[in-house]
Amino acid sequence: MNIGIIGAGNIGTTLARKLTAAGHAVKLAGSKGPDDIREKAMKVGALPVAAHEAARDVEAIVLSIPFAKIPDVANIFADVPADVVVIDTSNYYPMRDGNIAEVDDGKPESVWSSEQLGRPVVKTFNAVLAQTLAEGGGTAERIAIPVAGDDAHANAIARELVNETGFDALDAGDLASSWRQQPGTPAYCTELTLPDLQHALSTAEKARAPGARDALIKGFMEATPPLRHEQIVARNREVTALR
Ligand SMILES: NC(=O)c1ccc[n+]([C@@H]2O[C@H](COP(=O)([O-])OP(=O)(O)OC[C@H]3O[C@@H](n4cnc5c(N)ncnc54)[C@H](OP(=O)(O)O)[C@@H]3O)[C@@H](O)[C@H]2O)c1
Repeated sequence: MNIGIIGAGNIGTTLARKLTAAGHAVKLAGSKGPDDIREKAMKVGALPVAAHEAARDVEAIVLSIPFAKIPDVANIFADVPADVVVIDTSNYYPMRDGNIAEVDDGKPESVWSSEQLGRPVVKTFNAVLAQTLAEGGGTAERIAIPVAGDDAHANAIARELVNETGFDALDAGDLASSWRQQPGTPAYCTELTLPDLQHALSTAEKARAPGARDALIKGFMEATPPLRHEQIVARNREVTALR
C-alpha cells in the first residue's frame, strides 16, 4: 500500500519504520519540508516529502502531529479522494495544546479532528506510548490497540496496519465512542491484551478522564528523576483503573 505520514516525530517516524518493514511504500513529512527530515526518513526506509506531497497518490494517510496543529493542515486534505483512509493518532493535552472549548465540553477529540479536516478519520495509534509502539510489538502475548471510526472499510484497513506493526487491533466502535480511548481512560497507554482492553474500554467514565489525564501528565512532568517507561504504564493503570 502507498502510505503518507504527516508528522515525523516519535509516533510518525516509528510508524514509518514499521510500515516500510511490513512492505508498504511510505512517504514521511514534517512541518519544514523534506530536507529537514531527509536523514531521519532515509534511516527508516521512507521517502522524505513536503506535507502536501504525503497526501498525494496514497491509499492511507497517517496524521501524527500535535492536536492543536490539526487545523493548520486542513488545506492539504481538501482534494484528497474520499476513499483514502485518514488515521488520526493525536491526543489533546490542554497543558500543551492550549484549551479548545468544544473538546473541553466533551466533544471526542477525533470528532473535532474530523471536523477540522472536513472528512472522516479513524482514531488509532493514539493510546500507545511511543516507546511501546517502538519496542513493544510482536511479543508472544500481544498488546492491543483500539481502532475507532465510522467507516467499516477504513476501520478494517486501519486494523490491518495495527496488526502489521505487531499489535492486536481491537474494534473500538464508532468515532463518537472514541473518547473511551482518550488520555485519562483505563484503555490509554496501559499496555493491555485484547480482552483486558475490551474491558477497559467498556468501563471508561467520560466525566473522570480529563481529571485523570491532567493529574497524570502533571505528575510525569514534575517527576525527578523522570519516570521510567514501566513506571509510567504502572501509574496510568493505577490512576485510571475503576475503583
Ligand atoms: N509520544 C507519544 O507517546 C504519543 C503516543 C500516542 C499518540 N501521540 C500523539 O501523536 C501525535 C504525535 O506525537 P509525537 O510524540 O510523535 O509528536 P512529536 O514527536 O512532537 O512530533 C510531532 C511532529 O509533527 C510535526 N508537525 C507539527 N506541525 C506540523 C504541520 N503543520 N505540518 C506537518 N507536520 C507538523 C512536527 O514537525 P516539526 O518538528 O517540523 O515541527 C513533528 O515532526 C500527537 O498528537 C501526540 O499527542 C503521542
